[in-house]
Amino acid sequence: MSAVISIQNLYKSFGEKKVLKGASLQVNNGEIMYVIGKSGSGKSVLLKHITGLMRPDSGKVYIEDEEIFSLSEKDLMRVRMKMGVLFQMAALFDSMTVFENVAFTLRRFTNKKEEEIKSIVSEKLSLVGLKSVEDFSPSTLSGGMQKRVGLARAIALQPKIVLYDEPTTGVDPILASAVDDLIMTLNKELNVTTLVISHDMKSTFHTADRVAMLYEGDFILTGEPEAFKESKDPVVYQFVQGMAKGPISIL
Ligand SMILES: Nc1ncnc2c1ncn2[C@@H]1O[C@H](COP(=O)(O)OP(=O)(O)O)[C@@H](O)[C@H]1O
Ligand SMILES: [Mg+2]
Repeated sequence: MSAVISIQNLYKSFGEKKVLKGASLQVNNGEIMYVIGKSGSGKSVLLKHITGLMRPDSGKVYIEDEEIFSLSEKDLMRVRMKMGVLFQMAALFDSMTVFENVAFTLRRFTNKKEEEIKSIVSEKLSLVGLKSVEDFSPSTLSGGMQKRVGLARAIALQPKIVLYDEPTTGVDPILASAVDDLIMTLNKELNVTTLVISHDMKSTFHTADRVAMLYEGDFILTGEPEAFKESKDPVVYQFVQGMAKGPISIL
């Protein structure tokens, strides 16, 4: 089976609010999959299920053939370490230097010696296009550089899967394009499976191998970018064109 992430019939409600209603998605080995949908459609909730941070009301998530909600805490932790996550907010520790931020998971989850940690940190920083920033506090860096540090930290443990939550939201178009390039470069260089959550259609069309659109708790279309450009489905069309008028309520 070539699916690295398999989401099967996922349901999740918060009180009366049904956020996921039977969502299913396969992400294949090595591909860049984009999950798109309007704000509040449940994209981050979906991501939290994939990383095992949130449990569904029902449904399953397989990471490389292991169903994560049936695992022990210890095994879940092992599976989680296959995933590098770039959260929506960089979530860096400002009391630590850039070096310490990237070294954090290596120190916490491995027994690597300081020497090796140093070489891994500098390798990861250079992969994301940063140098000579090891000793800075993240708060002194630009937003774009902070994102790169977050990414260097996310890939420190050699993940097989890299997950991004809205990496281009709130960044200028030039930086967005640089982030897109970085997503593609890392996908190739690290030989990983990539899932990106986004509502940025320009980035999506530029970067995705496949796209899945979340709407009212389920995926209404999954396919190659072309399928989205050509879709006559009024919901897909409205989202792709970014029109205020249409079946998708803007509230
Ligand atoms: N922990 C939570 N408790 C209650 N409601 C939540 C929680 N997390 C998310 N929600 C709700 O689920 C819906 C989807 O949220 P989210 O996945 O963050 O959307 P987005 O697609 O913008 O990432 C929103 O209505 C949000 O308020
Ligand atoms: Mg979100």
